[in-house]
Amino acid sequence: MHPRIRGLARVRATARCGAALPAAVSRASSSKAKAAPPEVVFSGIQPTGTPHLGNYLGLFLPFLELQRSTPASTPVYLSVVGLHAITLPQDPAALVRDRRNMLASLLACGVDPERTTLFLQEDVREHSELAWFLNTIAPVGRLQRMTTWKSKIATARNANSEDEVSEEDLRLGLLSYPVLQAADILLYKSTIVPVGEDQVQHLELARDIAQVFNRAFGDVFPVPETRVVPQKRVLSLRDPAQKMSKSAPNPLSRISLTDSPKDIATKVKGAVTDSTATITYEPDTRPGVANLLTIWSAFDEAKRSPAELAAAAHADGWGAGKLKAAVSDVVAAHLAPVQDEYRRIIADEGYIRVVAAKGADRAREQAAKTMAEVRAAVGLGGI
Ligand code: TRP
Repeated sequence: MHPRIRGLARVRATARCGAALPAAVSRASSSKAKAAPPEVVFSGIQPTGTPHLGNYLGLFLPFLELQRSTPASTPVYLSVVGLHAITLPQDPAALVRDRRNMLASLLACGVDPERTTLFLQEDVREHSELAWFLNTIAPVGRLQRMTTWKSKIATARNANSEDEVSEEDLRLGLLSYPVLQAADILLYKSTIVPVGEDQVQHLELARDIAQVFNRAFGDVFPVPETRVVPQKRVLSLRDPAQKMSKSAPNPLSRISLTDSPKDIATKVKGAVTDSTATITYEPDTRPGVANLLTIWSAFDEAKRSPAELAAAAHADGWGAGKLKAAVSDVVAAHLAPVQDEYRRIIADEGYIRVVAAKGADRAREQAAKTMAEVRAAVGLGGI
């Protein structure tokens, strides 16, 4: 059989069994083939404008830790992924602002553009190009089983008003979103991809796509390892059954990185807790109080756990009021220097542009190399 066809037949087999290869098996077979590839760290973040506390604790801090702890010889990439953002409708003017704000926020929080290749995904055209190549081997059935896609389908099926999208109208880009994500990762031959729990399924797809490509066209991609960063789940201040989210309609449900101490105090004061008078750390039964303790713990100089902080507050006879005051103080104090830095950077559009341009140039070097290999492997190289 023609090798290309054989590759596709195997894709179908993967699609049928659905699940990813067990990690141990796939890792063993790839390490047998050749020495371990050099480590490359890659992560992506959507341009959601000014990030909130959930993004900061869940994504930024773990990334900064990785930036600090990886050896200088290991390339580290961080991409602000505009091409992913447009899989949902965006207001073009707002998107320009959001991309700029996200870059400024990352820089203000300590992403070092010398150490980390920080760039806008859409500036490096190879991302879309590789995504197309990978689309030609990505099994549709597998994409349809992704939880994010399934939740869009569920919402569309429940749609009853005219302005909600019906199932028929769901966009192809939403379905192939994970393929573009695989392209982001594989373009840099990344081996370590720090992400939150909710991205694990996408990462498994990226691993499988890498393997299918290699089997069909020869070893081009290392199979990336998913590193799930221990995420602090920060909950909505208004509804502790939900995560803190940019898309929640009530802005009082989230603390933005640029909120003033007064805004922070107002929001924390209004946080939904419960009617128990004392402070205990019981995430299942008292999620609102637990959320405040989680936030406090993340910023606590003495690095006390939420349970330890609860014990201390309990011993001092605190109620929710005192807890809230302590939390807003610690958050405001921690964010103050980040906010100073943010104000300085956001006022300097020229600087942001230079960082983005330099990052894109650096990213493009590797991206172009990989694409040349991919084109040659597939038979679309020279003629
Ligand atoms: N899909 C990721 C998210 O929504 C963002 C992302 C895009 C990403 N490309 C990536 C994360 C590559 C890690 C690696 O959070």
